[in-house]
Amino acid sequence: MNQQFALSRRMFAQLLGAGAATAAVAPAAVAANSISSPKPALPESGVVRLNSNENPYGPSPATLKAITAAFPLVWRYPDETADLLINDLARFHGVGNELFALGDGSSELLKLAACAFTDPSRRLVMADPAFEAIGFGAATAGAEIVKVPLDKRYSHDLARMREVTNEAKGAGLVYICNPNNPTGSITPKDELRAFLDALSPKTVVIVDEAYHHYASSSDYESVIPLVPKYANLIVLRTFSKIHGMAGLRLGYAVAQPALIEKVVDQGAWDSVNVLAMAAARASLADTEHVAVGKRKNSETRAYTIEALEKLGYHTIPSEANFIMVETKRDVQPLINAMRAKHVQVGRRFAAMPQHMRVTIGKPEEMRAFVKGFADVTN
Ligand SMILES: Cc1ncc(COP(=O)(O)O)c(C=O)c1O
Repeated sequence: MNQQFALSRRMFAQLLGAGAATAAVAPAAVAANSISSPKPALPESGVVRLNSNENPYGPSPATLKAITAAFPLVWRYPDETADLLINDLARFHGVGNELFALGDGSSELLKLAACAFTDPSRRLVMADPAFEAIGFGAATAGAEIVKVPLDKRYSHDLARMREVTNEAKGAGLVYICNPNNPTGSITPKDELRAFLDALSPKTVVIVDEAYHHYASSSDYESVIPLVPKYANLIVLRTFSKIHGMAGLRLGYAVAQPALIEKVVDQGAWDSVNVLAMAAARASLADTEHVAVGKRKNSETRAYTIEALEKLGYHTIPSEANFIMVETKRDVQPLINAMRAKHVQVGRRFAAMPQHMRVTIGKPEEMRAFVKGFADVTN
């Protein structure tokens, strides 16, 4: 073991306390205990966490190995690692490396984009319900937020969003979450292409593809290949979901250089750490882990949907690692009752107060969920 790694061990031990440090700095123990079956987040208390759309299988073995191998690099600023990751991303997506910006999770990029493209005279247009982070960013920037209800298919109502966007006061930014959180539904590719064609190039569009890897509908497509065509398009991806790296924080934006520059200008330098980037490079290369994660998610999702149907509860068709269950009553008391049974489900969404968002965990976690749900709805 070289000196830098020994230093890292000591520093981590001081920072984290003995127990956590053992887990953090003992690669062999990590490999033996956690790679094939990472422990649930709160194993001691037996809490089943189905509230944050995390990947219950965690990162791949190759990713964990890359993280431990990168420990000796943590004394350096991350410039070179960032360059390497961006090269990998560019190759992976088949576009130029000048089209990328990295963020401390895609949440950071959402916040930076809100700062760059909204203000009291430039509105944010978004669906309702959708992932709220961009709205919080726009509110801080003093922007008006226009929320357009999802349509009957739970897709973005792009016709209405376009009307609102082109209204007198105009919009600085349109946010499209595809697949959408919290509904798990998609906005069809033809509609999205037509929307991008029709929108004023002055308005920036973010398409948030956090759940891209879970989608399999033939009506869905990623719009990353369209970035060279549209100067106003930003696509966001994250390593928090199928790559199982929510705790490490890494997201990226794909857009033309002029937009990338405006986003990056809002942020601090080097907000992404070396360990996260090393992990991301390994995970990007591990296409098998992604494929297996998708398959497990879809099998367990199918089990859960069927079990809920048997109980008489319908779900919205999902292309993601979570589902929305129609609860036929206000969901908040059910959320509370599930929590009392140590099963944490998603928060209540004001636009859909009779729906519960549930992350797809491991099969045993979903059995616990179904049992709890049957009890609390009885
Ligand atoms: C649609 C969507 N976008 C972005 C994020 C944030 O991801 P990150 O962990 O990369 O900040 C989430 C997290 O749940 C999400 O659901």
